[in-house]
Amino acid sequence: MFNTQHFKKFNGIKTPFYYYNTALLKETLKSMLDAAPKAYHIHYALKANSNPKLLNIIKQHGIGADCVSGNEVKRALEIGFTNKQIAFAGVGKSDEEILIGLENDIFCFNVESIPELIVINELASQENKIAQVALRINPNVDAYTHKYITTGLEENKFGINPYEFDTVLEHLSNCKNIKLVGLHFHIGSQIQSLTPFKNLCIRVNEINKWFLNKGLEIEHINVGGGLGINYQEPDKESIVDFKAYFNVFKQFLELMPSQQVHFELGRCIIAQCGSLISKVLYVKNGINTNFAILDAGMTELIRPALYQAYHKIENLTACVENRELNKYDVVGPICESSDCFGKAVVLPETKRGDLIAIRSAGAYGEVMSSNYNLRETVGCTFDEA
Ligand code: LLP
Repeated sequence: MFNTQHFKKFNGIKTPFYYYNTALLKETLKSMLDAAPKAYHIHYALKANSNPKLLNIIKQHGIGADCVSGNEVKRALEIGFTNKQIAFAGVGKSDEEILIGLENDIFCFNVESIPELIVINELASQENKIAQVALRINPNVDAYTHKYITTGLEENKFGINPYEFDTVLEHLSNCKNIKLVGLHFHIGSQIQSLTPFKNLCIRVNEINKWFLNKGLEIEHINVGGGLGINYQEPDKESIVDFKAYFNVFKQFLELMPSQQVHFELGRCIIAQCGSLISKVLYVKNGINTNFAILDAGMTELIRPALYQAYHKIENLTACVENRELNKYDVVGPICESSDCFGKAVVLPETKRGDLIAIRSAGAYGEVMSSNYNLRETVGCTFDEA
């Protein structure tokens, strides 16, 4: 994907920085909207990337916002998402954050526990508001992904368990300032097969029926996000197969005619649009291992250190010069051995000053960066000026 034009452009910019391909973002959004049935409502999960310029593009495509903090709700509103497009999830919303949602009459709070339901009701009553609520349910469906991003198993902290449903309904009948509008599910992230989504649909059908049998026809079913991307070959599959994904829900989700479906997608919209661009500071050749030491580290992109995540690494300088191949451990400057982007990575002979691209870093990259070691906040640039 990168060519000599990029190389020339990047050469003038202070590294490390995130580079975002907004043309690809637009193509991805179009492909998603073309594939989604009209009745499906998609919310973009701001947690994946809340960069204002990217959010603006996403908003212009008419989709909603999925927020997990008061500040994300505020950011979504500032960008111009309407209050009725905003869902607010999260297992630990503070009172201040709940008040932000109430003051702005957001579409829905995804409520994760009975104690949270009680607090939202109290705050809503105090503010003279009716809070629209979806119950986040833990469906106990395995997403077969990294354990740190698995969220739909009983052992995970997320959601309300089915054995609590009767108690929830008792509480709801006493919560005068709550209107139950939805059921919410999210089983995990970077899900690489469609089977877990099929299994989720089967579970959702059972749970939906349980509520119907209690006389509750819930307005919307939110099936969360989680669709994985191809980190191995970002150029071969820069846009995921949205059609196949939505087809699973079309085929397996059994809904009442009045029920709407909502999605909260993050990674598959934005991941392939971003690369972390860094410079080689030093090459340290050892007996068994050569190290390419970059000016970016786990402070700029923590995914490899935290989830042992694979990101494709490319030497951009070598794409304009012909060089022999060699193997490198590509590492950052931070004093932690987990600060490693890839082991035994085959790269063209790498030298001090070379530009390196770490691909598929648009989701959970810039947003998870930190100033550990008092490092500077990572910058960003775009394909358009
Ligand atoms: N909805 C809820 C309730 C979520 O918790 C998440 C992600 C999403 C939607 C969006 O999921 P996506 O479509 O992006 O998979 N930092 C990790 C990923 C954490 C995901 C957290 N929840 C990583 O870098 O892999």
